[in-house]
Parts: sequence; C-alpha cells; structure tokens
Amino acid sequence: MKAKIPALGTTIVVSMFLFAAQGCSRLPGKPGFRPETMRPDQTVDFNVLYKANCSACHGDRGLNGPALPLNNPVYLAWAGKEKMLPIVTSGESLKSMHAFAQSSGGMLTDQQVNIIVDGMIAKWGKPAILDGTSVPGYSATTAPDIAAGKIAFQAHCASCHGEDGTGVTATGAAAKHTVTGSIVDPTYLSLISNRGLRDLVVAGLPGEGMPDWRGDGSVKPMTDKEVTDVVAWLGSHRVQFPGQPFPSAPPTGAENSTKGK
Ligand code: HEC
Ligand code: HEC
Repeated sequence: MKAKIPALGTTIVVSMFLFAAQGCSRLPGKPGFRPETMRPDQTVDFNVLYKANCSACHGDRGLNGPALPLNNPVYLAWAGKEKMLPIVTSGESLKSMHAFAQSSGGMLTDQQVNIIVDGMIAKWGKPAILDGTSVPGYSATTAPDIAAGKIAFQAHCASCHGEDGTGVTATGAAAKHTVTGSIVDPTYLSLISNRGLRDLVVAGLPGEGMPDWRGDGSVKPMTDKEVTDVVAWLGSHRVQFPGQPFPSAPPTGAENSTKGK
C-alpha cells in the first residue's frame, strides 16, 4: 500500500502541472494561433490602399481634394505608370508629398505601390485619350524663359486668373467658373513644385472648370515651350520666407530656414 502513495502524489503533481500549463495558453487576451487582423503590408485591395494613403490629399474618388486630381484621364495617359511609379515610390521632385515605398522610408511595399498606380490607371484612365494630339512633354525640353512666360500667361490664363495671376472675382451668371484665387501667392507657391504646376497646366482641373493645355477653344493649344515658360513665370513669384509679414527683416536662425526643393 505504501508504494501507491508516492505514485498518487506524482499523478496529482503532474496533472496540476498539465492543468496549469494548459491554463496559461488560454489566458484572456492572448492572441490565438492566427492573427485576427491582416498586417497593413498584406493589404492588396486598391480601394483600401487608395483610401488609406491617398484620398486625404487627392480626394475620395481622385477628385476635389486639395492636391492634383488623379481621376483625370488626361493626366493618367500623359504621365503613365512609367512616370507615376517612381514619384509615388520616392516622392522625388515634389513638395508636400512624401515617399510611400518602404525602400524610401514610407509604409507601403513595392507591390502595394504598383497596385495603387495600376488601379488608378484601370479605374480612371482612358489609354487612347491623347492619341492624335500634340501634348507637351512630361518634362521641360527648353530652357525656361520667365519674360516669355508672362506673355504666354496673358494669352492662355489671364482670362480666368487675372492679368497678374492674383485672381478674378466675377459676378453674374459667369461667376461659377471664373472666380479664382491668387496663384502667384508665395505661400501657395511654397507648397507646390514646378513639377506640380506643369501637371496642372498640361492636364487641367477636371470638375473645377480649368481646361487642359488645349484651352477652352478661344486660343490655340499651348506649345511645349509655352508650358515651360508659364511655369517658370509662376515660379518666379516664390520668396525665401513665404507668409512673413515683414519680408524686409526676416528672422534669422536655423528654425526659420526653409528647405528648397
Ligand atoms: C477657363 C478658365 C481657366 C483657364 C483658362 C485657366 N484656369 Fe487655372 N484654374 C481655373 C479654375 C476655375 C481653378 C480652380 C479655382 C482656384 O483654384 O482658384 C484654377 C486653378 C488653377 C491653379 C491652382 C490649382 C490648385 O488648386 O492647386 C493654378 C496653379 C492654375 N489654375 C494655373 C493656370 C494656368 C497657368 C493657366 C494658363 C496656362 C490656367 N490656370 C488657365 C480656371 C482656369
Ligand atoms: C499629404 C498629402 C498627399 C498625400 C497623402 C498623397 N499625395 Fe500625391 N501629391 C500631393 C501633392 C501636394 C502633390 C503635388 C506636389 C507638388 O507639386 O510638389 C502630389 C502629386 C502627386 C502626383 C503627381 C506626380 C507628377 O506627375 O508630378 C501623383 C501621381 C500622386 N501625387 C499620387 C499619389 C498617390 C498614389 C498617393 C497615395 C499613395 C498620394 N499621392 C498621396 C499630396 C499628397
């Protein structure tokens, strides 16, 4: 009989141990074997990716956001995947838009950047929309001429933006499409690059009444050189300290330095 007692003791100790061990793996709140939510870098749905990463600035459906409308078939055909992919990956040549790919310090995988760019083209693009047109180049091909840009601005833009670019306030029936803010304001220009201005001048602002480089039919389409020169003229209004009330005496010190791009 004596021999059975240690055996019983062992059984109790072992079963307590097993019970305790099992209890531990069932602690409330401990994640199960499979993660219940998908890791952000595994999301492959265009709509989810676009909404989370792009819609705040480019608008929910690629329209009416504070930044360039991406739901613009003229822009999409003109830039194409070839130009958009490296820009979205690295934010290169832009102001006010950071890099998105992990390879450049962003949060998205290369696959996700591809899905977003392909998705915009598939959803909002019309691949043949520029066939037969003489669209200006994606990048400038001539040296920028600011004085010629002022003349081109007067021919192609002043009707809607005013002779000097400070905007037009219209009344009456035409008001809807002719009321514009200043596009020579240094604070506005500090947030947009010449790259971004070229995008707007060539591709226009669908939904806001601004035509693409072909204009509204009242003048000849803009040439490649005119686009380059108008962008240079607009850009010539940038100042070193935008928004400073006393530009003659800018504050000194590293905190107030501006980062040019
Ligand atoms: C038929 C009218 C019209 C013409 C022509 C026109 N625009 Fe515009 N433009 C608009 C409207 C409307 C807006 C949107 C309202 C605003 O931003 O003030 C706009 C906005 C802009 C903006 C600001 C876009 C933004 O939101 O960042 C720029 C820059 C601009 N236009 C440049 C030009 C230039 C340069 C030309 C000539 C090559 C031109 N526009 C010709 C109507 C026009
Ligand atoms: C914080 C605001 C912001 C977010 C978020 C943002 N963008 Fe932008 N994007 C901008 C601005 C501002 C510009 C124009 C910048 C300039 O002119 O320098 C721009 C320009 C672009 C351009 C034009 C590039 C060219 O051809 O010059 C593309 C394409 C673009 N964005 C795609 C995207 C995509 C895709 C996403 C989401 C993955 C995204 N953006 C998220 C603000 C943003």
